[in-house]
Amino acid sequence: MDIEKYIREIPDFPKTGVNFKDITPLLAHAEATAFCLEQLAALTESQQIDKVVGIESRGFLFGTLLAKELKAGFVPVRKGGKLPHHTLKQPYALEYGMDALEIHEDAIKKGDKVLLHDDILATGGTARAACQLIEKLGGEIVQCNFLIELEFLKGASKLKSYDVRSLLCY
Ligand code: PRP
Ligand code: MG
Repeated sequence: MDIEKYIREIPDFPKTGVNFKDITPLLAHAEATAFCLEQLAALTESQQIDKVVGIESRGFLFGTLLAKELKAGFVPVRKGGKLPHHTLKQPYALEYGMDALEIHEDAIKKGDKVLLHDDILATGGTARAACQLIEKLGGEIVQCNFLIELEFLKGASKLKSYDVRSLLCY
């Protein structure tokens, strides 16, 4: 199946010069979503996964589906101030300024086999911050997988020590 045709490109969104990859047409298409889910799950090659960590917000979309598919638990990594219980916080750089990601301290147990998922790997700052949180809690990152990788932004270079996989590369 050609999944690229379900990804809509929006020029100059959210700002001039950015070519936004909109996955909502894909999500609205049941067969395309099922196909992507199957392909993402297959990337783990039947390795045991205890927890799928999805990054707010677009990483939640396939993240929860993947967790169900892999018979793993789902753990949200959220932007600062959203999680209600005790959290670990990891600041990370945005193009302009800083943001932070958080995870519940009890969401990952030492030795848990973790799959990190997000919709897009761009500069890699977001995924790297999530990996730092997972490892601080003693999780073992089996793979980082993405629906889309924007190769020209070289995000994979920030995730060198991990098995990084993507369904589509631009
Ligand atoms: C986008 C995308 C990834 C991240 C990738 O999320 O969904 O999470 O940026 O960027 P990076 O590799 O350069 O760090 P965004 O922060 O826009 O939020 P959203 O998922 O809530 O839309
Ligand atoms: Mg995101």
